[in-house]
Amino acid sequence: MRILITGGAGFLGSHISDYLLKKGHTVVVMDNLLTGSISNIEHLFGNPNFSFIRHDVTNYIHVPGEINAILHFASPASPDDYLKFPIPTLKVGALGTHKALGLAKEKGAIFMPEAEKFTALRQYLTGLVESGERIGSVPMNDGVDVDDADDIALAENFVRTYFKETSC
Ligand SMILES: NC(=O)c1ccc[n+]([C@@H]2O[C@H](COP(=O)([O-])OP(=O)(O)OC[C@H]3O[C@@H](n4cnc5c(N)ncnc54)[C@H](O)[C@@H]3O)[C@@H](O)[C@H]2O)c1
Repeated sequence: MRILITGGAGFLGSHISDYLLKKGHTVVVMDNLLTGSISNIEHLFGNPNFSFIRHDVTNYIHVPGEINAILHFASPASPDDYLKFPIPTLKVGALGTHKALGLAKEKGAIFMPEAEKFTALRQYLTGLVESGERIGSVPMNDGVDVDDADDIALAENFVRTYFKETSC
């Protein structure tokens, strides 16, 4: 299969790239390097089955050729990063998911979101608003509000609706 991994220069995506290449798949990593790093994937650059596209997935995504599956991992991953990059986090959760789904629809590809992210981010945001306590190492009341949890719900809604409409 030819597999696109959004956020593939990050921790999880880069390890999954290694795994899929070893299994004989072709891997295209798309990443804007917001929290990821080329150093995570530089050992793959000589591999003819690997390619890297530097791109922000909140913008229209074009990938030439067939894509059989999309693993959607692009997103800041920790509460610290959510607070450091609040707007990019919201954008990638909603708009990035929408754009990745659009590509899956165009290519007839299987779409696999990193589902735990949505749950974890919603729990974090909801807890931040409701608990009045510190969560992990992140202080309360520093600019994230309950509307952000709604934004993740929007991303999940995109996924459910695209699944219903396209069976991707
Ligand atoms: N690391 C974990 O233990 C863990 C556990 C559960 C879920 N997750 C989820 O898995 C996903 C990846 O986590 P990670 O630990 O690999 O994080 P990471 O920060 O190492 O990787 C995320 C990647 O997404 C990229 N990215 C962010 N915004 C982007 C955009 N707009 N366009 C293109 N690329 C973009 C970053 O540059 C980075 O390379 C996240 O959604 C995270 O919430 C991670």
